[in-house]
Amino acid sequence: MIPQWIIEKKRDGEALSPEELKFFIEGYTKESIPDYQMAAMAMAIYFQGMTLDETATLTELMMNSGDLVDTSSIEQPKVDKHSTGGVGDKVSLLLAPLVACCGAAVPMISGRGLGITGGTLDKMESIPGYRVGLSDKEFVSVIKQCGCSMIGQTGQLAPADKKLYALRDVTATVPSIPLITASIMSKKLAEGIDGLVMDVKWGKGAFMKTYEDAQTLAKTIVEVGTRMNKGMAALITDMNQPLGRAAGNSVEVIESMAGLQGNGPDDLMEVTLELCARMLTLVNVVDSREEGLAELQKHIDSGAAFERFKQMVELHGGDPRVLDDWSKLPTAKIQSPFKAPRGGYIQAVSAEQVGRAVVLMGGGRSRTEDSVDHAVGITDIAKIGQAVQAGDPLLTIHANDEDKLAGAIELLEKAFTFSDEAVTPEALIKEVILPD
Ligand code: URA
Repeated sequence: MIPQWIIEKKRDGEALSPEELKFFIEGYTKESIPDYQMAAMAMAIYFQGMTLDETATLTELMMNSGDLVDTSSIEQPKVDKHSTGGVGDKVSLLLAPLVACCGAAVPMISGRGLGITGGTLDKMESIPGYRVGLSDKEFVSVIKQCGCSMIGQTGQLAPADKKLYALRDVTATVPSIPLITASIMSKKLAEGIDGLVMDVKWGKGAFMKTYEDAQTLAKTIVEVGTRMNKGMAALITDMNQPLGRAAGNSVEVIESMAGLQGNGPDDLMEVTLELCARMLTLVNVVDSREEGLAELQKHIDSGAAFERFKQMVELHGGDPRVLDDWSKLPTAKIQSPFKAPRGGYIQAVSAEQVGRAVVLMGGGRSRTEDSVDHAVGITDIAKIGQAVQAGDPLLTIHANDEDKLAGAIELLEKAFTFSDEAVTPEALIKEVILPD
């Protein structure tokens, strides 16, 4: 096969055959197809799109380009969740132990934060001693003991995606629904799961800025996963304001622990419990979403979910005592309230500005190789619809450096808008997408 003929076919809007896609993806992974031809192909896909058949084939080829985690010795049904990422999105920390308590296994391979969206691994590494780099054998062993494990990529997981994602990043071809679908799903399905629930975030603080794009991505992912015999569901959830009241690393661990103890913010709990209930129904651990919700609440009320998280932390080499005494988690030197410039109802809270303020203080990274400051962050974030008086605190900034604090304040000054009329926030869960 001749690479440029295949590029030409996609450029002109034709569907590629499984053999042509195989030739391209295998060639790119083995380096017989150079970056410049793959870049041209990615751009052709960006403009011409792909059929569902092509997207499913691409996903399978990328998944099989590297190692697959062998979870076959785990008896429970295996199910995971993936979020397209948002500010304050700490759902994974609550969801893994909750679902594990209900009898499903959660083999969660997560990523680090990049840009304004935080990453689960950075949050978990706020816990002293917690190791995200387990071998496959350790990963499976932790899951057998406590039902869940949260780690970073092991071995060579979907290497075709690793290469292609880096290339897309520098060739303006990231925002392509088929390419995003194949990228996300190739990594998630390599975990050896039976079911997956997607949390597609929509809004100003999300990857998907328009509702239509969020919907198309959710539908494409559900369809591709279903074709690969996985139980699938997707939620489209609002990311026009941060989720919960904390953004950062250590501060998000604290908010998650509060949630597992029954004291989480309403929005965080609503999204978490809905995702968990859907996971449980997908793999038939419960008969209905309602039964799932009741079961989950039981494990919060009894303290079992919190204990399960502590057990997982200990199995990863972390110190579970810090989860009982939060002052032992990384703590910033400065805590500064940020006050309302005027009274009224909060009309908007820019997740983007909040996320940027966290990155600027060192809590996120702008390049993959940057390290993060686990202690800095923002807490007590006021929510859309809340009534405030001038001078009331809108949030608390946790900083380690006066200059960075000043920079964060400058960004946060653009984060809030106010209305004199009462404001009703958007529904948090906009839509649930199930297979046709
Ligand atoms: N996240 C991924 O893993 N891949 C994409 O293409 C976009 C977001």
